[in-house]
Amino acid sequence: MLRKGFLYILMGSVAVVMFLSTAQVMGQEDEDYPQEPIIFTKPVKAVIFDHKYHIEQGLDCDSCHDDPFEMAAGTAEQNDDFNMKSLYEGKYCGTCHDGESAFAANTRCTLCHIGVKGYNRLMGTPEKGHGEH
Ligand code: HEC
Ligand code: HEC
Ligand code: HEC
Repeated sequence: MLRKGFLYILMGSVAVVMFLSTAQVMGQEDEDYPQEPIIFTKPVKAVIFDHKYHIEQGLDCDSCHDDPFEMAAGTAEQNDDFNMKSLYEGKYCGTCHDGESAFAANTRCTLCHIGVKGYNRLMGTPEKGHGEH
């Protein structure tokens, strides 16, 4: 009896595992965005943008692609107007970070600006002075 019960549990677990992996494959299309944050380093080092966080806010890809952002990291940074003035005028991140759809770009600077220290931490670069002669 005990053995038979064990067999049922085993079969049940196999079914659950199969179901879960199928669900994962089917859900993959939605998750096809960069899993690691994108870090801007121009003109200033460094500004963080996290897809995961933004998607979790319920935003569609359409709300950012291809306007105001191309689906290619490094594109905005090539533009001379990728700066705070443009954000304040409602371009780039300022499309939403206007104090209505999301916190305004002229507030909470350090939520976006992680600085050189934050950049080094994320990239795993050793602290300055470490290992120097
Ligand atoms: C809130 C804004 C926002 C949303 C929503 C968003 N993205 Fe992005 N995405 C960006 C930004 C910003 C970049 C970087 C663009 C740049 O550097 O010019 C980017 C870049 C990308 C890239 C290029 C990554 C690389 O390494 O070149 C891909 C792929 C991408 N997004 C896919 C998606 C998909 C798929 C969705 C929807 C599930 C999505 N994005 C939703 C803002 C967004
Ligand atoms: C399509 C709208 C949209 C765009 C474009 C957008 N964001 Fe956001 N962002 C949001 C929303 C919504 C939130 C969550 C609400 C809030 O925090 O006010 C958010 C929150 C954030 C946060 C807070 C994360 C935290 O941990 O609290 C950061 C940082 C951020 N955005 C950076 C950026 C940067 C950098 C850009 C441009 C590269 C950008 N966002 C573009 C909608 C947007
Ligand atoms: C919603 C995200 C966000 C917030 C909030 C934000 N910034 Fe920025 N900032 C950016 C982005 C994106 C860039 C351009 C990319 C880069 O320089 O790495 C930038 C660039 C800059 C630059 C260089 C370009 C320029 O305009 O001179 C300065 C200086 C700057 N920010 C200062 C600030 C200060 C001060 C605050 C707070 C009052 C602030 N930022 C808040 C996203 C943000």
